[in-house]
Order: sequence, then C-alpha cells, then structure tokens
Amino acid sequence: MRIVQIGTGGWGKNHTRILSQLGVLVAVCDTDSKKSEEYGEKYSVNHHETLDSLLSSEDFDGAFIVTPTSTHAKIAEKLLEVKKHVFVEKPMTYKSEEGEKLVRIAEKNNVILTCGYIERFNPAVDVVKKMVKEKKFGDLVMLEFHRENRMPLHIKDVGIIYDTSVHDIDTANWLFDDMPHVVFARAGKIKHEYEDFASIMLGYNDDRVAIISSNWITPKKLRKFNAVCTDAIISSDFITQETIVEKDDETQTLQNEKQEPLLLEIQSFLDAIEGKNKQVVKAQEAVNVTKIAEAALLSSQKGIPIYLDLK
Ligand SMILES: NC(=O)c1ccc[n+]([C@@H]2O[C@H](COP(=O)([O-])OP(=O)(O)OC[C@H]3O[C@@H](n4cnc5c(N)ncnc54)[C@H](O)[C@@H]3O)[C@@H](O)[C@H]2O)c1
Repeated sequence: MRIVQIGTGGWGKNHTRILSQLGVLVAVCDTDSKKSEEYGEKYSVNHHETLDSLLSSEDFDGAFIVTPTSTHAKIAEKLLEVKKHVFVEKPMTYKSEEGEKLVRIAEKNNVILTCGYIERFNPAVDVVKKMVKEKKFGDLVMLEFHRENRMPLHIKDVGIIYDTSVHDIDTANWLFDDMPHVVFARAGKIKHEYEDFASIMLGYNDDRVAIISSNWITPKKLRKFNAVCTDAIISSDFITQETIVEKDDETQTLQNEKQEPLLLEIQSFLDAIEGKNKQVVKAQEAVNVTKIAEAALLSSQKGIPIYLDLK
C-alpha cells in the first residue's frame, strides 16, 4: 500500500510518524517548503510543495489531508477526482455543501472518503460504546461533555465549535447511534477572533440529550464525558482513558489498556482500503457533524433552536 500525506504541521507530524512506522508513507506535501523538506528527509520519502506536483509524480492508493479546515474541500476534491481513497482531518469541510459534494464524488468514483473523528478510536469511548450497546447499565439517556483548554494559537480559520466541539458532537451521535433533530447553542468570544466558548444542546429521539461544553479560555487541559444511563452514571476521561461506573454506593474504576487513538484510526483507514474493515467514519456522518456545527453557530447568533432533518 502506498500512502501520501498533505499537511505536516502541528497535528500532521503525528500522522507522518505513524504512517512511516507502518511502512506505507511514500511522499509528503506541505506548502511550507521547510516542513515538506524536513519531514521528507526525516522519513526518507519524496516531498512536494504543491498538490499538483505530488499528483503528477507520485503513484499512490490513498491520502491523508492534515491541512487547515478551510483548505480541506479543494484538496479532497482533487484527490477524489483522480480516484484516490481519502482521509480528511476534522471537520471534513468548512461548509456542509462542500462535504455533500465530496460524498457524491467519492460515491461516483467508488473510493473511500472518511474523516478524523478520532474519539471513536479512543478506548475511553469504545468501552462506553460497548456498555451502551449491551445495555449493561440500562438505557443511555443523557451525555455531558467537557473539553476545555487554552486556544491553540495557530488555528486562525475557525472558532471552537468547528475545531473542538465537533469531536463531542460526533461522539454523541456515535454513542446514541442517532442524529439530533434539534440544536440549541450559546457561544461567545472573550479573547479570540471567532467564538472561544460554547455550550451546545443536542436533542435526539425519545427526549435524549447531549450537552457539550467547550472553552478555549481556561488553562487546564480537560477532556471528559459522562454517560447517564438508567442504572448508572459512566464517566470517562479522553486523556487518561480511565472510566468510572457509579451505581448506588458502589463505584467501579476501569483502567483500559492505554492506546494511541490516532494509530487505531489510521490503521482502520488502511484496513478499509484493503477491504478488511468497514468501521471507518462514514463521510455522510462527517457531513452531518458539520451541519450540526453550522446549526449551533446559527442558533447562537439568532437565539433560537434550529431543527434538522439529517440523513
Ligand atoms: N483529530 C484531532 O484530534 C486533531 C487535532 C489537531 C488538529 N486536527 C486537524 O488537523 C488539521 C491541521 O491542523 P494542525 O493543527 O496540524 O494545523 P497546522 O497549521 O499546525 O498545520 C497545517 C499544515 O498544513 C500546511 N498547509 C496549509 N495549506 C496547505 C495546502 N493547501 N497544501 C499543503 N499544505 C498546506 C501548512 O503549511 C501547515 O504545515 C485541521 O483540520 C485540524 O482541525 C485534528
């Protein structure tokens, strides 16, 4: 298998390391020539400064796009049009219409299009997903997410909802195995150009609810969620990957075997290309997350709930 990577910045350097370890990386591309050269040389693969140069000289099966959100749609379109399997970092596109277009091209060309909703591959989420699916502690009724950290200063094109809350939106859809039909949000900005704090409420069937709280203001990195079930509250930490189950006065702590979610996510895309696995995030699910993020921004601007009818 031959894989290329576009974008080798703060997050992309992790993909480069893993793809090289897995022995599938053949070329990198970054418009910043220092970066493309640095990673090309570090991992002994070809390097390019433009997508056109990469497309005209490399032979490959799939590509990772790890560039800023506003650039995803154009790069993905070019790759899908030449029938490459594509993994795009989250959120898949800035606008949901751009995402819908990518879905159509991927379907037409019969290639895989997926998006980096990495928390599905986090053992802390996986263990809760299994408990919910087996109804180990009854029915899942409510989800509460907290994701707080000072803003990563290099993110210049989107606010916290598109950059950060989208992880929890996708995790909520995944754990409920459903799409919300109503979104209500309040967001504001204290220090940044775009919104830097947000509270989002997602309403699902049967009155089930997810509440997502994100901020780029407070200094401590915190990423946790609670799954309120009819017989217990399950609390999980995305960072430590520890899960606690509270039932009456009985508290059980589960320390999952710590694993790197990015490695599991990348492996699952490579397996999908080889036809071994169909568990990748579906492109339409990623488009839906963008639609929910758009609805959250609109709800916050207008002060009203936004009703959705998602596929
Ligand atoms: N899944 C996660 O947990 C997670 C974490 C961080 C970032 N991300 C996502 O990864 C993506 C990149 O984020 P980052 O933090 O690495 O950003 P970054 O700014 O650190 O890196 C982006 C890189 O892309 C390059 N680039 C920009 N436009 C390009 C183009 N047209 N062609 C080729 N290269 C181009 C830049 O030179 C830079 O090196 C974003 O979509 C972000 O949302 C995901």
